[in-house]
Amino acid sequence: MGENSTQIDERGPRPVRGSQVEMRVEAIDDLGRGRGEVEGHPVAVRGAVPGSLVRAQIRRRHRGAIGGQLEEVLEPGPLQREARCPHVGTCGGCSFQTYDYTGQLESLRGHLLERLAEADLLGEVEVEPVLGMEEPFGYRNKMDFTFGNRRWIEVGEPEGARSDFALGLHVPGVYSKVLDIQSCAIHFEGADDILSAARELAREHDLEAWDTRRHVGLLRHLVLRKGVNTGEILVYLVTSVEDAERVDPWAADLVRRCPQITTLVQGIHSRAAAVAIGEEERILHGPGVIHETLAGLTFTLSPTSFFQTNTTQAERLLECIHSEVPSSGGRVFDLYCGAGTIGLSLASKASEVVGLESSPSAIRDARANAEAGGIHNASFIEGDVLENLEQCTRGVQGDLCIVDPPRAGLHPKVIPILLAAAPARMIYVSCNPVTAVRDLEHLARGGYRLARVQPVDLFPHTPHLECVFTLVPR
Ligand SMILES: C[S@@+](CC[C@H](N)C(=O)[O-])C[C@H]1O[C@@H](n2cnc3c(N)ncnc32)[C@H](O)[C@@H]1O
Repeated sequence: MGENSTQIDERGPRPVRGSQVEMRVEAIDDLGRGRGEVEGHPVAVRGAVPGSLVRAQIRRRHRGAIGGQLEEVLEPGPLQREARCPHVGTCGGCSFQTYDYTGQLESLRGHLLERLAEADLLGEVEVEPVLGMEEPFGYRNKMDFTFGNRRWIEVGEPEGARSDFALGLHVPGVYSKVLDIQSCAIHFEGADDILSAARELAREHDLEAWDTRRHVGLLRHLVLRKGVNTGEILVYLVTSVEDAERVDPWAADLVRRCPQITTLVQGIHSRAAAVAIGEEERILHGPGVIHETLAGLTFTLSPTSFFQTNTTQAERLLECIHSEVPSSGGRVFDLYCGAGTIGLSLASKASEVVGLESSPSAIRDARANAEAGGIHNASFIEGDVLENLEQCTRGVQGDLCIVDPPRAGLHPKVIPILLAAAPARMIYVSCNPVTAVRDLEHLARGGYRLARVQPVDLFPHTPHLECVFTLVPR
C-alpha cells in the first residue's frame, strides 16, 4: 500500500449540493469569492465578506472549491458594509459592493502580488498600493444592457407579474433570463432615468424583446455612454432588423422624454451572437458620436469604439503611464490603441506615435482625435497586431512599446515579434492579472524585467484590477 492510502482524512462529510451551511469567511479568493471552510472542505461564496459569518446554499464545485450561494449574513464582520443597490446578490455585476473599499483594494493587491511572486517576476520590485477612488460609486461612463423576453422573477414578487419583457443584465449562470435593472450604483448619474424611459417606451410602442433561445424579436441591446467631462450622452440601440417604422417613433419619444440625450444611434445586428455591435448603423438623433476630455485632449467616441469606462481613474492611469515615460519618449508604438487615448496623450513627449488597432471605428476615432488635438506626429494603422506588428517595427528602433491588450492578453505569436522589436522600454497595461502574468513570464524569458508595478482601481466593487507594468531590458 502506498504511503498516502494510510493517511486518515480528518475532514467531516463533504457538504452536499442544495444543503445549507454556515461558514466564517476567511479571505477573498482570486475569483473574487469569499472563501472559508465547512467540515474542512473549501467553500467559496460570491458576495461573502472576509470576517463575516454567512449562511450559504451549496452549489456545484467550481475552480478548486465547492461553490455556495449567499443566503444570509448571520454575523457581519468589521469589513461588511451596507449594499447600495437593490439588485445586490442577484445581479452579480459588483460582487464586492458589501465589502469595505479599503479591504477590496488590499485583497486585489494581495492576489496580484501572489501571482507575480509565484511567477518569480518581482525581483527587487514592490507592488505599489492600488490607486483607488475617493468616491467609488457612479463611476461607469458606459453600460451595456440587454433586452430579453424572459424576465428574472425576484423572490417575493406577486404571482402573475408580467415576465415577457426585461431590460437589464443577465443573471450570472442563467443566460436565458434578464434581470430588469431599476437602479445601478456604479453607472453614471442619470442613467437610471434613461433606462426606465427606454423600457417604458418599448412597452408603450409594443416593441418585443429578443428571445435568446429562438432568436426572434426586435430589441437586443441598449448601450448608454456619457462623456463625463462634457455631459454629452449617447444611446445605442441594437436591434435584429432595421424596422424604421417602429424604431423611429420610439427613438423620437425617448429623446423627447430625456432631452439630456445628445445623440441616438441604431445598430442592426442580425446574427445570433449576443454582442452590442451593429453590422450597420443609422443615426436617429444628433451627431452619432459624443466627446470626452482626458489628459487635456478631446476624444470623439463612436457607439462601439473602446474607451476606458471609468473617466476619473482613466485620468490617473494616464498620469501613471506618463510618469513612466522619459521626457523625450522617442518613437512610441501604441499597440491595441483603441481611440488613441494613451498614444495621443504621450505625443508631446514623443518624436512619433504609431497606433495599431483592429477596430475600424476606433481607428477612425483615433485619427479624428489626433486631428482635433492638432497632433501631427501620430499615425494609426487598422489591423490585427499579430499581422501588422512585424512590418511596422521592421528596421526601426522603437523606444517605447505600450501594450494594452483585451482581457485575453497577447496572442502567443505576438510575443516573439515584440521581443524582436526590442524596444528600450515596454509598458504593459492590463485589466486581467492572470493573462498579464502569463505574458510577462514570456517577456521575462525574452530578456525583460519588471521595473515598476502600479495597480489602478478602474472597476470598484468588482474583482477586476487594472495594472501598469513597466518593463526594461535586463
Ligand atoms: C483594453 S482595450 C485598449 C484600448 C486603448 N489602449 C485605450 O486605453 O483606450 C483593447 C483594444 O484592443 C483592440 N483589439 C482587440 N484585439 C485586437 C487585435 N488582435 N489586434 C489589434 N487590436 C485589437 C480592441 O478593439 C480594443 O480597442
